[in-house]
Amino acid sequence: MSELRVRKVKDFSAELQVPGDKSISHRALMFSALSNGPCEITGFLASEDCIATRNALAAMGVKIEELGSGGTHIRVHGCHGDFKKPENPLDCGNSGTTMRLLSGLLSRCPFEVSLVGDKSLSRRPMNRVARPLGEMGASIKGQGDRCTAPLTIQGKDKLTPIHYDSPVASAQIKSAIMLAGLGADGKTSVTEPNASRDHTERMLNYLLVKNIRQGDTVSIWGGQTPESRDIEVPGDISSAAFWIVAAAARDGARLLIDRVGLNPTRIGILNVMARMGAKITERIDDSGCEPMGSLEVSGGHLKATEIGGAEIPTLIDEIPIIAVAAALAEGTTVIKDAKELRVKESDRISTVAENLRRMGVRVEEFDDGMEIIGGDPLKGAEIKSLGDHRIAMAFAIAGLFAEGETVITGSECIETSYPGFIREIEQLQAMNR
Ligand code: S3P
Repeated sequence: MSELRVRKVKDFSAELQVPGDKSISHRALMFSALSNGPCEITGFLASEDCIATRNALAAMGVKIEELGSGGTHIRVHGCHGDFKKPENPLDCGNSGTTMRLLSGLLSRCPFEVSLVGDKSLSRRPMNRVARPLGEMGASIKGQGDRCTAPLTIQGKDKLTPIHYDSPVASAQIKSAIMLAGLGADGKTSVTEPNASRDHTERMLNYLLVKNIRQGDTVSIWGGQTPESRDIEVPGDISSAAFWIVAAAARDGARLLIDRVGLNPTRIGILNVMARMGAKITERIDDSGCEPMGSLEVSGGHLKATEIGGAEIPTLIDEIPIIAVAAALAEGTTVIKDAKELRVKESDRISTVAENLRRMGVRVEEFDDGMEIIGGDPLKGAEIKSLGDHRIAMAFAIAGLFAEGETVITGSECIETSYPGFIREIEQLQAMNR
């Protein structure tokens, strides 16, 4: 197990680019594989999670060429969705997006296939996709009531269209159903309690696949093939979030991030940081498949806020770093309606609360969130990442503000979403020595 050691820094000013968006990279691979020809993807996130999707598609006969060094520029040869049965179980690693979206994709393939994952992924509920995909005619078998991995999927080449009322706002559920819906005979729709990230809808529109949104319902028509087009993946706002907080919470800090995704369904972090008193300027370029642009952050003193309701899906992956911002802010921050955090790569309510307490922060944990009393000085501590990349990175940032040394155990998990993060932290430490 690797350790990342972090010490307090005196100042923080940076101009950087973050690696490609994870959600968009998974979709770019899957939708271009379904398309009718070659698609070049630039800005692809060559991290462990997206490489799991890439390897799975390759094992299903999709030709993928690497065009540039580092695997961020690739060409995927669309096969019209005519996938071949893989010889071995498909390994989704730590990636929930790979397992859930592939379940949708494989539901329309007339063969049997197994999906496996690591320890964390094998604890996460897959019944949330198995149920609707089962209603469409696929058979998805897993372990126990929550249908955990390993999964065995037997797809069908003509699925039944459904209307699904999803009990949770989840882009993974919505996208799995939409992927299966492409292989259904008619209109498939999904209604969510609140809108989740809309990368699937945007990318399908961009690839000329008709889908429409009416309120919180998205509908798609089966029998369409995505048109092969080149896709530019913006930088990941979820990765940028760590640096945004590192700058926003420090008086005199300045940060410039270029070419980052600014999709309205993902920028909850910016709204929250603005409420907390951060000065953030956005410049958006809305010309491609996804809005992207630059962000400028000037640091200052943060104050507490309340976060809940429809805002939660727009910042669900940023809650660990928002909790760190709350610990650095004046006053009591309340996060509620976020029970979904309990079924992420770790139970992020308890991992965040436990690690903040280790750093000397007063936190009360609720079933669906937490209350954080900010303003006390942070103490360096041993942080258990529990193999969760966002926990490891959020607490590495906390370590930049703490007295003494912070040691993040299991820091290798950072590679699942942010290759290069450790290098940035090390450079920052070297500059402040
Ligand atoms: C993702 C959706 C979110 C998010 C995950 C990526 C996606 O999960 O937490 O990191 O790419 O669709 P849910 O859809 O389950 O909320």
